[in-house]
Amino acid sequence: MTDIDPAVIRHYYEQTEYITDAEHHAVEEKPARLAVLRNFLRGHERLVLEIGCGSGVMGDIHPQYLGLDVSEEAVNLTRQRGYNATRWDCTQPFPLESESVDAVFSFNTIEHILDPVPLFTEIDRVLAPGGVVLIKASWNIARNGTPVWRRAINRIRRVMRRICRSMSGRTRTLVFNRIEPDYSKIGKDFDAVASVDHFLVFEWFRWRGYRLLNATQNPILRCFRVTDSLHDWLAVQKG
Ligand SMILES: C[S@@+](CC[C@H](N)C(=O)[O-])C[C@H]1O[C@@H](n2cnc3c(N)ncnc32)[C@H](O)[C@@H]1O
Repeated sequence: MTDIDPAVIRHYYEQTEYITDAEHHAVEEKPARLAVLRNFLRGHERLVLEIGCGSGVMGDIHPQYLGLDVSEEAVNLTRQRGYNATRWDCTQPFPLESESVDAVFSFNTIEHILDPVPLFTEIDRVLAPGGVVLIKASWNIARNGTPVWRRAINRIRRVMRRICRSMSGRTRTLVFNRIEPDYSKIGKDFDAVASVDHFLVFEWFRWRGYRLLNATQNPILRCFRVTDSLHDWLAVQKG
């Protein structure tokens, strides 16, 4: 894994073509996102935070909405839609007080973050007790061009790792794989840098006293039931 020049990343996310492509997907997915989000956000009156808000397609979800995104261009577009947004690299501590947020959500962004652990730690810090975290991402994303047989082996290894981690109690640390991005292309997650298993993210939050809102409570069943399909939801509530 080569080191990535932060300037290359910054430039990538400022491109109009990238932002338009992400917006296209967001608009397409919006009805499905709303159906789930509205349900979980009911009764949460205070700040609602979106990580990687892009051009702000989801900004109308809540009157106390705040979007964070590393791209200045995307943040400007969110503001032009009339929603609150701040340019922020979400691997850095958030510009927010501890326990000041009622809900955090994110779409198609976690896989683009070089190290998601500081991000999850910050989510935990700013979230008030009873607050919810809702994340949809390309979990367990494979390098572009990975052959089918290799993907099948990876899947088996993943379930084995889930079982081992679940039984050994080591799931309080989050391991993930770095993958090589291709910043010369736009679309199809060419810019993905982290392959994260949402089962392990569930466990990471569970170890911090969170309740799983959309996964079976049985740790062994969960190794299989949290499926390997892309774009599954992670929904947890702070205890
Ligand atoms: C695939 S787009 C998804 C945008 C939006 N959530 C949606 O679904 O349309 C990924 C977004 O993550 C943002 N992003 C990437 N790295 C980031 C970081 N370190 N901090 C904050 N935002 C980041 C990008 O600027 C981009 O807007």
